[in-house]
Amino acid sequence: MTDELHTDRLLLTPLTLDHVDDYFRVYGDLRTWEHLPGGVHTSRGESARAIERSMASRREFGFGHCAVVLREPVGDLPPGSFIGSAGAAMLAFGAWNLGYRFAPEAWGHGLAGEAARVCLDAARDTRPEAPVTARVLANNPASIRVLERLDLDLVWQGASSVAPASPDDTTHLERLVFADRPLDDATRDAVIALG
Ligand SMILES: CC(C)(COP(=O)(O)OP(=O)(O)OC[C@H]1O[C@@H](n2cnc3c(N)ncnc32)[C@H](O)[C@@H]1OP(=O)(O)O)[C@@H](O)C(=O)NCCC(=O)NCCS
Repeated sequence: MTDELHTDRLLLTPLTLDHVDDYFRVYGDLRTWEHLPGGVHTSRGESARAIERSMASRREFGFGHCAVVLREPVGDLPPGSFIGSAGAAMLAFGAWNLGYRFAPEAWGHGLAGEAARVCLDAARDTRPEAPVTARVLANNPASIRVLERLDLDLVWQGASSVAPASPDDTTHLERLVFADRPLDDATRDAVIALG
């Protein structure tokens, strides 16, 4: 089980329901969903359910998503500021899904890269047999850049449908799939099917 993680500037602790107000401030902010506006959280309950899924991943597989807090001032933000979340959750088919979302006030300081690096290492240490995957929309260059700077390779790029089958379906959008190792066909197809 991975508990606290540190980087030079960041403290990452397991997300819990104590973080729901801070988490909703970030996940309910449309600016953090510029590339996928339909994903914005519209209620505190939606954020609570996302945190509960992260807690379940951590209970069952030893790692999940983390609350990310500054250890030192960055820009106008003081130490102790909650800036967002980063981590990895185990997918149903045995691969990690790496992800992050930060408050706009924290962008542009290299913090996402710093957090993603330590989360990638933690996911690998926790379940070395599980590939680490990450999905990003092609219209999100900042996030693509974060993934490119990690020890991950692009394993697929494209759109896998012509039109969404439901409001949540993103398979028609061009996206990139990164992974920390070659994926077998079944795993690759399962990641692509997630949209
Ligand atoms: C994506 C996100 C996490 C990046 O956070 P960040 O702390 O600013 O990221 P970093 O500073 O570590 O790195 C961003 C990189 O993208 C680059 N970048 C930023 N905006 C860019 C743009 N419009 N075009 C190209 N590159 C861009 C930066 O220059 C930097 O690269 P560099 O270090 O090589 O210069 C943040 O913008 C965010 O939370 N966005 C909303 C949520 C989101 O998109 N999450 C990811 C979903 S897959």
